Amino acid sequence: MKNNYEYYRLAGNILSNNYFLELKKDNHHGTNKYDHCKRVSYVSFLFAKIFKADCKEVVRAGLLHDFFFGERTEKEENSYLNHPHTSAINAKKYFNITDKEASDIRTHMFHHVLVKKIFPFVNYKEKAKIKDNRPRSKEATIICLSDLLVSVYEFEKYRLRYGISLTFLFLINLLTIQ
Ligand SMILES: [Fe+2]
Ligand SMILES: [Fe+2]
Repeated sequence: MKNNYEYYRLAGNILSNNYFLELKKDNHHGTNKYDHCKRVSYVSFLFAKIFKADCKEVVRAGLLHDFFFGERTEKEENSYLNHPHTSAINAKKYFNITDKEASDIRTHMFHHVLVKKIFPFVNYKEKAKIKDNRPRSKEATIICLSDLLVSVYEFEKYRLRYGISLTFLFLINLLTIQ
């Protein structure tokens, strides 16, 4: 309860901002970007408590880490590796974030860069260097890990259920074909 109060005190002005509310329109991992960002921010806040990191910084960077408009495939600036930079630019423009918060946002896709290094065929069109995308602080590492955890949770919760429903529908359709 005390944590909730502190979280909303730090996040409130972003959560109720009209530009940020626009994220409710964008699909993301089977849910919407607003809910995704809020989850990442809250999980980051809890990690910050555990690891004695800067709570305000992770709440803000967590909320704004995917602060871009439209789907990832819609525009080049929204791609897997460009959207962290686009989000940092938008966050600076609308919320005047600090340089450290901007850096946390820019490095939140480090897990994707690592996956690309191990499996070069993943998103092969985009190039990325580990040293340019490495989280540079405890807070940045927290944002990156929370994003990964929340993404797995959302895929499990929404996409899997969606996938099972689709498979079920597909099988039903298959059985009814004469
Ligand atoms: Fe992202
Ligand atoms: Fe994200």
